[in-house]
Amino acid sequence: MGHKKLYLKTFGCQMNVYDSERISHVLAARNYRLVVNPSEADLIFLNTCSVREKPEQKVYSALGRYRAFKKKNSKLIIGVGGCLAQQEGEGFLKRFPHVDFVIGTKEFKRIDEILDDLEDSGKRSAATHLNGRVDPYASLPFSPSPSKVAAFVSIMQGCDNFCSYCIVPFVRGREVSRPSQEVLEEIRVLAAKGVKEVTLLGQNVNSYGKTKPGELDFAGMLKAVQEIAGIERIRFTTSHPKDLSRPLIEAFGRLPKLCEHIHLPVQSGSDRILKRMNRGYSGEEYLKKISRLRQSCPRIRITTDMIVGFPAEEEEDFRASLEMIEEIQFDDLFSFKYSDRPGTQATHFPEKVMEEVSQRRLTELQTLQRKITLKRNKAWEREKVEVLVEGRSKARAEDNMGRTRANHIVNFPGKPFAAGSLVTVKIQKAYAHSLRGESPQDSLPEDGNIVKRGKSVSRGKENL
Ligand code: 5AD
Ligand code: SF4
Repeated sequence: MGHKKLYLKTFGCQMNVYDSERISHVLAARNYRLVVNPSEADLIFLNTCSVREKPEQKVYSALGRYRAFKKKNSKLIIGVGGCLAQQEGEGFLKRFPHVDFVIGTKEFKRIDEILDDLEDSGKRSAATHLNGRVDPYASLPFSPSPSKVAAFVSIMQGCDNFCSYCIVPFVRGREVSRPSQEVLEEIRVLAAKGVKEVTLLGQNVNSYGKTKPGELDFAGMLKAVQEIAGIERIRFTTSHPKDLSRPLIEAFGRLPKLCEHIHLPVQSGSDRILKRMNRGYSGEEYLKKISRLRQSCPRIRITTDMIVGFPAEEEEDFRASLEMIEEIQFDDLFSFKYSDRPGTQATHFPEKVMEEVSQRRLTELQTLQRKITLKRNKAWEREKVEVLVEGRSKARAEDNMGRTRANHIVNFPGKPFAAGSLVTVKIQKAYAHSLRGESPQDSLPEDGNIVKRGKSVSRGKENL
């Protein structure tokens, strides 16, 4: 029998990318293989996001598009998973008659049962238990394909912080850490398949292991990953500033495989707004952590998230955010207009900021950051950097494309390097979203152009 065709579309964050991967392994065991064209699929699965209004709207418009496919092919199955599915549950089935099943963020293990029911009796269903502190990945199949250079690995999920604007605790549940031996085994399997770079994922990675007595903590986990042969680079996301501990800050200076980049969402520069957001730190405290990070690792690349137009944000609060941006000089910044999320505290805050005001603030903030990003990127011109090659450049097929340890995209000409090669590249020109390098042959002796595997781990740093 031939394979069945699966079209899997992922919205939202890296955690969802990881979840989609795990879902594809569950479905591979049911003989589904991925296709790139939804019109030929037997099963369309949308892994959704509800973190802000915009990603949520994207899901609804995609669902609208797939209605036509169902009209053409009545056997087509449409499933919706992830955060918006968790949030809406049964409501999805009522509102969208062409959706066959809904599966929450912690119910992947029920996909089999749901598809069995659907195939046997046409029963549509929604599985959206959040199930306390249960590990959603326990006993799921794990069968990664051998073609990737970089992979995500979820180490924990959920969140206990309850920032007043944030949907995550409601759609991902309370914090649950995965057993460290399982995580490490998964990374060993990935390394054996040729993966060189892992990004450890969690909504709040600093809390890793805290609810599991006797487990590794996050700094311990990083150290254990450092020991895995074949893995050349370690990244993680996301860290909460209030929990960014000294051992973790020091890990940047000590663990050779830990890349020099941290995404540390600040959300606002105003103490008044930070308090209302329930973030648990002041601007001053955040600045202190940034300066410690830079002491520990002088060239660390620091990126952040900011929200504008949070309820009751005055012009003065917004100016404090701009001042913080000027002072810290973030390497990059993702900025969002506040939107109400169902069930969150801030939804009930009365002093909503008008759309035009939020939009103006967003534009002003982005204009400022664009200049800073370019300036920060320009500081890399003429530097020689280590690039992990991922493949061909999207813009120019004859160029190589890879990433620096600080997580810039680098395109560079010259002979094609195999994905997974570590190459030293001299940066020629910086743009806002990428760097352009010279051909390694132009800048280095003929056979000095490939930095052999393992070189990056022997830079003379002591172990943690
Ligand atoms: N409105 C706007 N932005 C939000 N974010 C999270 N919740 C909201 C919301 N209700 C932003 C935060 C977070 C990023 C993933 O999305 O900046 O860090
Ligand atoms: Fe979106 Fe947050 Fe869910 Fe990720 S965890 S998919 S960002 S709502």
